[in-house]
Order: sequence, then C-alpha cells, then structure tokens
Amino acid sequence: MLWHFTWFIVPLSTMKRNRISSFTGIFLSLIFTASLHLSCTKVNQPTVDFTIDLNGAGGAVLNTKGGYVYDNGVIIARTTTGAYIAVTQICTHDGSTVIFQGPQNVFYCQSDYSQYATSGAVVAGPATKNLKSYNTSVSGNTLRVWG
Ligand code: FES
Repeated sequence: MLWHFTWFIVPLSTMKRNRISSFTGIFLSLIFTASLHLSCTKVNQPTVDFTIDLNGAGGAVLNTKGGYVYDNGVIIARTTTGAYIAVTQICTHDGSTVIFQGPQNVFYCQSDYSQYATSGAVVAGPATKNLKSYNTSVSGNTLRVWG
C-alpha cells in the first residue's frame, strides 16, 4: 500500500505548475504499475499437511454440499458433487479472505469480486494469479489436506 502513496513524496515545490516534466510522468506511471503488480504477488501460499474430523465441531459443516471451513490458511469446501477441495484462503489480488459459493462452485473474493474455479484458477479478475490448490483425501471420518 505504501506504493500507492509514493506520489506524495515528490515535493510539490520541485514541480512547475504548468509543466510537469515527462520524467516525472514516466516515474509516476512506473510506480503505479509496480503497485498493481505487487498487489498480486505478495500472497502467502503455505505448505500444509493437516487433518479435519468430519464429525467434529469444525468439520461437520463439510458434511453439507456447499459448506466450507478455514484451517491453516486454507479454505476447504465441499462441492455440489460432494468432492472435497482445498485452496489457499487468501485472495491473490490484495490479500482478502475468499469464500466458497456452493451453488456456483466458485471461490469468491468480496473485496474486489475476483472469482476462482474449484482448481484455484482465476475465472474473473482483478486477480491474475491462481490460488494454490491442495490435495485432499478421506479416510473414515478424517479429511486430510496437504500440499
Ligand atoms: S483482494 Fe481484490 S479481488 Fe480479492
């Protein structure tokens, strides 16, 4: 976010009122472009290996198709077809937490409306980088998430 305010650092006294040098314009454009790029690259996509008790308080919601929970920086969801899927919970655009929209089978960011497929692939921006996808497997009432 600091990059968004870099233009304040340029002292106004160094600018001529009627003529801003082309160097300054190019410099500010580069700063703005860099800030947009950085907002898509600063997301933590952790390596994890954990289990969820599907009969426990935290995991029972996954017994419902369309349900989802957060654990270890990962959002774990149950699709409309009954599959368990998991991706990193942090939107790659600017770091908000995504939700799962069960009826549409998409991960969705309420901040700027990016959408991701169940694989974590970007469906609609402004995000340009995919969410990291994790492996899932079920043994009895235990769901394992790793990757
Ligand atoms: S934080 Fe901007 S779309 Fe998610």
